[in-house]
Amino acid sequence: MSRLIVVSNRVSVSKLGQMAAQGGLAVAILAGLKERGGIWFGWSGEKVETPSPEPHVVEQGNLSFATVDLSPTDYDEYYAGFANRVLWPLFHYRLENANFQHRARLGYSRVNAFFADSLLPMLKEDDLIWVHDYHLIPLGQELRRRGVKNRIGFFQHIPWPPSELYVTLPDHREVLQELSHYDLVGFQTEWDVLAFEQYLRRETDAQLSDDGAVYLDGLYFRVGAFPISIDTDNVIAMAQRAGAAAPARRLAGSLIGRRLVLGVDRLDYTKGLVERFEAFGLMLKEHPDLRGKVTFVQIAPPSRGDVPEYMEIRKALEAKAGEINGRYADLDYVPIRYLNKGFARETIAGFLRVADVGFITPLRDGMNLVAKEFVAAQDPKDPGVLVLSRFAGAAQEMTGGLLVNPHDIEGMAQSLARALDISREERVFRWHPMFQHLVSYQVSDWFANFLNTLAAQRR
Ligand code: G6P
Repeated sequence: MSRLIVVSNRVSVSKLGQMAAQGGLAVAILAGLKERGGIWFGWSGEKVETPSPEPHVVEQGNLSFATVDLSPTDYDEYYAGFANRVLWPLFHYRLENANFQHRARLGYSRVNAFFADSLLPMLKEDDLIWVHDYHLIPLGQELRRRGVKNRIGFFQHIPWPPSELYVTLPDHREVLQELSHYDLVGFQTEWDVLAFEQYLRRETDAQLSDDGAVYLDGLYFRVGAFPISIDTDNVIAMAQRAGAAAPARRLAGSLIGRRLVLGVDRLDYTKGLVERFEAFGLMLKEHPDLRGKVTFVQIAPPSRGDVPEYMEIRKALEAKAGEINGRYADLDYVPIRYLNKGFARETIAGFLRVADVGFITPLRDGMNLVAKEFVAAQDPKDPGVLVLSRFAGAAQEMTGGLLVNPHDIEGMAQSLARALDISREERVFRWHPMFQHLVSYQVSDWFANFLNTLAAQRR
């Protein structure tokens, strides 16, 4: 079996060997890589004035973590500027939040070239290389420029937008050109694949075949949907342990018999948090009998805090929580508990287990692994109800949830009230097939599917 080199902006171990990133991407890759071993290369999360291309290497069992630092300018242009102020909003259908600046695009290209320079000396002839997410689209081309002939795959964790939106990216054709240097380009869902193919058909003279093969400008690559999953066995075990441990007991005890609605998201404008708070408030307005009977806990650790749009969403959310709590709170009742901080994964699994409803309503999301973790964390005899945005990739698979339109506040309020009223029998009936699906298709299957398809590509 070829050695595996995974590359992503975030790496789950810092240059000192401690736990670093805990986002969905980092957690999924770690789970997959642990089984197979290999090298995980990416940004250290640190900023220094003059970064060295020589990576910091930490060995842990069969895994090596190799990370490089970035300069403050690199960070501003590549990470905060182009990746998170252009690609992120645009690919989540948020054109109004996109801020195109050529300087940022140059920084994005420069950091990708720097990553390629730094990675190159580590590569061996038959390594499989797997690049992750929108930060690193040009990396494949940069490696090819340096003579790398290995099979290189790319997986996009976030959505691919419809072509009408994608063409608002000033250099949309160059970004496609960069992608075409990979052997395999994977997306989360068939929606994303269709959107990508629609762009190819409308804007290029690419030849496409039904099996996902694409010929473009003399290059051949393959596209396909590879929906990411979770480490289901591990989430089940964590939820069983943590559901009975102190933090979950403390949370459950603090509810003094009230029902628990729970949301867990990075604090991000794509997550539909303001609309979610409004829907909860509307439900209390329309159902006076539920006031004092239901608590909504929203866990939302801050993210990308130096990007202006993230400062704004933070303020908007604080204001919305204050407004609703001001209206419906009582001496011993705070309807929305908004926690602007993160918790350990195992603690979260315990919270998911004791929740009656998982309220997960992003405006747009590539997959949303919390929705899947909520399902895996439930008690089989008495599972909670998933209320899920139809615009999360997970909605394609988690069909036993109550699917909602996160722009429709009234519809969400009604679905939430219904979720709190569903009989145990129906809850089990809705939950069981989703759970079975997650047991039979785990993150290790996603990992293996992508890599087997990549290894089978001709070069
Ligand atoms: C999303 C992206 C990941 C990213 C994560 C956390 O899940 O798809 O690539 O790592 O968010 O965001 P951050 O900017 O903190 O890495």
